[in-house]
Amino acid sequence: MRRVFSGIQPTGDIHIGNYVGAIRQWVSLADEYECIYGVVDYHAITVEYDTDGLRQRTVDTALILMACGLDPDRCHLMVQSHVIEHTELGWIFNCLTPVGEVERMTQFKDKSRQHKANINMGLMDYPVLQAADILVYKAGFVPVGEDQVQHVELSREIARKFNARFGQVFPEPQAILSCAPRIMGTEGKNKMSKTLGNYIGILEDESSVWEKLRTAVTDVARVRRTDAGNPEICNIYTMHRAFSPDQAARELDKGCRSASIGCIDCKRVLFKNMMAELTPIREKALSLKAHPEPVLDALHQGAVVCRRFAAETMEEVRDVLGLLKG
Ligand code: TRP
Repeated sequence: MRRVFSGIQPTGDIHIGNYVGAIRQWVSLADEYECIYGVVDYHAITVEYDTDGLRQRTVDTALILMACGLDPDRCHLMVQSHVIEHTELGWIFNCLTPVGEVERMTQFKDKSRQHKANINMGLMDYPVLQAADILVYKAGFVPVGEDQVQHVELSREIARKFNARFGQVFPEPQAILSCAPRIMGTEGKNKMSKTLGNYIGILEDESSVWEKLRTAVTDVARVRRTDAGNPEICNIYTMHRAFSPDQAARELDKGCRSASIGCIDCKRVLFKNMMAELTPIREKALSLKAHPEPVLDALHQGAVVCRRFAAETMEEVRDVLGLLKG
């Protein structure tokens, strides 16, 4: 079966942008592919972080994925550091990757700017470890957001270079981009992100979600209630496309353009539809938080299976590299 790998950082705090743009797709890909989803804790330590909270954030991230519908019986859920072959293959890939290639990565440049006092080797090496995450499972497909396409491209180059030098071992992985609408932050300008604080968390309670929607920026050109609006530039409408039934969204589009519905009523409808999807997720997450055994079991099982896959790849890799068998 064709294999998928994707990873998510253990922030323990996932927002609706991640949910709509990535996690929903992860869930549906599990129908067609053999999917491995990793909580990538080694990527998270490339920047300053709080050691005390990391364990909890790692469990919480896996827990949220399960609450969103990732079923560990239908995909493999794992923690990156549980399978040491990721870092082992990362080292080998380091020896094939020109420094210039990683220096030009957009994310590296952005992060170097954000973390001037801590531009460490790991930060630069981040996409090489990402290539190892994917290729240690010989995954051919990688569902990611737009911002990660460059890293998947680098993975392809690394695979190509490895194969040319040592013989055909790896597939050249392809990014799978979600066709879901890109949800902006509540200020309507930037991408929804944890660091910018403009996000709606997947586990937020109703009153907090409503407060954020109520004050969220819509079409700025629609000043008066009687002005006709432009749904195509309205972030609330984007959210309708992600959470409301198609028919309802089409009617709201018409209502907005003809000024027969105002922004606040439009937001009320969105709130209702959004909560219809998010409330069961929050409830599931809370119950898993109270009894996390199924999450820990899933991660344990995932580690066992993934170690086996990864060990097979590494045996082949060590062999073609010419390393002495231990
Ligand atoms: N870099 C990815 C992100 O920030 C996370 C990630 C790590 C990843 N390893 C991966 C994604 C491998 C896809 C495949 O979103």
